[in-house]
Amino acid sequence: MQNMKVADGIYNVGVKDWNIRDFHGYSTYEGTTYNAFLINDDKNVLIDTVKSPFSDQLLANIKKIIDPKKIDMVISNHAELDHSGSIPRLIHFIGKDKPVFCSKAGKKNLEAHFGKDKFNLQVVSTKDEINTGKRTLSFMDTRMLHWPDSMFTYSKEDKILFSSDAFGQHYSGWASYDDQIDEKELKFHAKKYFANILLPFSKLLKKLITNIEDMNLDIETICPDHGVIFRKSPEKIISLYKEWSENIPSKKAVIIYDSMWESTRKMAEEIAETIADRNIEVTCMNTRAWHRSDIITEVMDAKAVLIGSPTLNNNIFPALADVMTYMKGLKPQNKIGAAFGSYGWSGEAVGILNKYMEEMGFELAHDGLKVQYVPEESDLEKCRELGTKIADMI
Ligand code: FEO
Repeated sequence: MQNMKVADGIYNVGVKDWNIRDFHGYSTYEGTTYNAFLINDDKNVLIDTVKSPFSDQLLANIKKIIDPKKIDMVISNHAELDHSGSIPRLIHFIGKDKPVFCSKAGKKNLEAHFGKDKFNLQVVSTKDEINTGKRTLSFMDTRMLHWPDSMFTYSKEDKILFSSDAFGQHYSGWASYDDQIDEKELKFHAKKYFANILLPFSKLLKKLITNIEDMNLDIETICPDHGVIFRKSPEKIISLYKEWSENIPSKKAVIIYDSMWESTRKMAEEIAETIADRNIEVTCMNTRAWHRSDIITEVMDAKAVLIGSPTLNNNIFPALADVMTYMKGLKPQNKIGAAFGSYGWSGEAVGILNKYMEEMGFELAHDGLKVQYVPEESDLEKCRELGTKIADMI
């Protein structure tokens, strides 16, 4: 109950999904949360809801504060089902006449998910305001951050920004606030979230943060829809977003590979050791040991990305195809790339990896290093040369 209170009259009535381990293809080793915020004012407002299987829990949490039937209006900052899934049940409870405020695209998307004329949808956009009694809530369109319908809600009296998915983390520990969690752990979860959800929209984020700064928004608390609420240092997460949205790589290499009979592994590790010997940070990730969402988290701020695959049936390994498809969609920027891998007789994998990297705009540091069957000492020397070249370029 204590942790539910965000400010006087404002409560997080969302739920913790402690045991989810796969959030639409994103590994959530520590679960996630679906935050929803109740504003108990002259008019009672609910900002966002939770995934539909948790709707009973949402109603039970609201009941700890007020009778859910007393909710006068709903704000839907984002139509994705982890935040809109319980709107139908809530509306069934409070009445179809109660307004649901959303963006223009939010109206379209809520109708697409739940049908037309199901809710009393009221379109709002940047600079629109609603009065709830002691508070004025204003809205900010944040189109494509990360859906066309995304928007923020701001309470100037409370200096609270309700930021939808932005600034979120897939984390469901005991902590509900940034002052209750280790700073490094929080940064890891926030970075992984950024890499897997927001990376393709970096330019828009950069602009959004400039807009927030230009508007001189007084923000004492940021309430995202996932993870902990920032009440101690909201400026820190804004500053991290500013840094990440610049896409300026660190002096760091990531090696991603799969292996059939250990040859590509030997190549990967020889390259990694060479880079590490030059005192440069390097992470060597076998796709069978690392989840795609952890791989992209490392790729996000790496200067060099080396990708290795044996040739299997004239193609790359399936696990690599998964990672490459995922990475391409997330549009990492400013990378040096190189491909490597072993082969038996045809050896197409390296060329296919080069094509992926070219399509992503990587600067190729090498034509691609191929080894037939098992690397000999002369092949390992070529791996060391590649590692040295990459280290020099970082
Ligand atoms: Fe957390 Fe885009 O939904």
